[in-house]
Amino acid sequence: MKATKTELVIVGGGPGGYAAAFYAADRGTRVTLIDMDARLGGVCLNRGCIPSKALLHASKLMTEARDSHARGITFQPPALDLARMRAWKEGMLDKLAQGVEGLGKRRGVEMIRGRGYFENSALLRVETAGGQRYFEYEHAIIAVGSKPAIPAAFDLGNPRVMTSNEALELEDVPQDLLVIGGGYIGMELGTVYAALGSRVVLAEALPSILAGADADLVRPVMRYAERAFQEVRLGAKVLKMATSGKKIKVVMDLGGQQKKEELFDRVLVSVGRAPNCDDLGLENTAVTRDEKGFIKVTAQQRTEDPKLLAIGDVAGGMMLAHKAAREARVAVEVLAGESSAFERIVIPAVVFTDPEVAWCGLTEQEAREKGVRVEVAKFPWTASGRALSFDRTDGLTKLIIEPDTERILGVGIVGAGAGELIGEGVFAIEMGATARDLAESVHPHPTLSETLMECAEVFYGHATHAMGRPRPKAEAD
Ligand code: NAI
Repeated sequence: MKATKTELVIVGGGPGGYAAAFYAADRGTRVTLIDMDARLGGVCLNRGCIPSKALLHASKLMTEARDSHARGITFQPPALDLARMRAWKEGMLDKLAQGVEGLGKRRGVEMIRGRGYFENSALLRVETAGGQRYFEYEHAIIAVGSKPAIPAAFDLGNPRVMTSNEALELEDVPQDLLVIGGGYIGMELGTVYAALGSRVVLAEALPSILAGADADLVRPVMRYAERAFQEVRLGAKVLKMATSGKKIKVVMDLGGQQKKEELFDRVLVSVGRAPNCDDLGLENTAVTRDEKGFIKVTAQQRTEDPKLLAIGDVAGGMMLAHKAAREARVAVEVLAGESSAFERIVIPAVVFTDPEVAWCGLTEQEAREKGVRVEVAKFPWTASGRALSFDRTDGLTKLIIEPDTERILGVGIVGAGAGELIGEGVFAIEMGATARDLAESVHPHPTLSETLMECAEVFYGHATHAMGRPRPKAEAD
């Protein structure tokens, strides 16, 4: 066995892995990036963020066209060409992956296609199309990501039971689709299939969809889903499924003694994600895992094994691409001997439903649970000229404010394009901005960004377009 020697091996070429590889290469490290997918970019690019946003864009076009009737523009009902839609999506993914590959090449990153397996802490075996290769390294970063969790009771081996991987392939548009789980994936892909014409029934075991977000932000999404979906069932736990001819028979607990048995053409299982730790050889290293199987890491992204670090979904926490990319920077800086840590970092969450929901920092719900004293200022989009101009007044911007210092602790937005607006909230919190800083920063008119400024003005009781409760004299300056 002849091993190639390198400084840093990164296993997994998703938004965590390739960000780490590029950053380390930029800083002069000899890097080898291993990925087993034909296209670099991981789940995010191949089976997640990017293809789902492409399909959500297509659904938005259809919804907009239908709703334009009231604006005096009537379109014909849309004719779907699924093959063409798939080709458009795939073309976009190819282009993006080629871009990532090109950026790696220009940086001199050695990119290997194959499956990595740790023989021991310092040696990685890679199964490539051309046979086995071995890499000896000083350090390795594990960035192998996650996969859809599929409970045994749902795992029928029947292609009609889909995870997000298959749902994004868009094989057909089922007439009756059951979506299990009203989290990120269920709500986003439910929105896509409802727009394409499926009768979507969504079953969520908890009393609310999108359980991590504040109730007032979730409400407009729930209202939309109740209109666009056949049914949204809360407190509905799917217990088991079975193949029944060309259908899937589903047994659901509707709370109390009530049980329901129904047939669906397809089922989407979106009940969370699990780390990709199988067949990785972790047992040959000193890496340890938590009770859910995620690799245990310190704030420096170090595992129990001094040679190995882990980032992204496989290291647990929020399973989001931008969190992985930030952890990538921390890991590379730590290896360079810097005092970097993943601590007190504001990670925004965005659910690309219609309307979108986005939040960062402290939520109102968290403040209540933790007993943190906060003031909440809200600005409804019914008072935004920009929102009115494109018929989307179903939004709300809110600030969670520390009453004494007036510092912004959290920002929540629901509304069209909320995902594009939340960046300002992240920046405000990271900079330790006060509500006054936000209120006194001139925002362009007419834009939705004004809702953040006016929301801060609501806090002081003098928003131009909303009646706010004036702050008591002693507290106001
Ligand atoms: P999730 O954790 O967001 O939601 C799963 C939901 O399924 C929960 O609300 C849970 O109560 C429900 N559930 C579980 N078992 C059930 C049952 N038997 N019957 C009915 N309901 C049941 O998980 P999801 O949607 O699969 O997404 C996984 C992760 O992927 C997310 O946590 C997120 O990190 C990431 N993601 C992020 C996106 C974004 O940033 N826009 C988009 C898609 C995924």
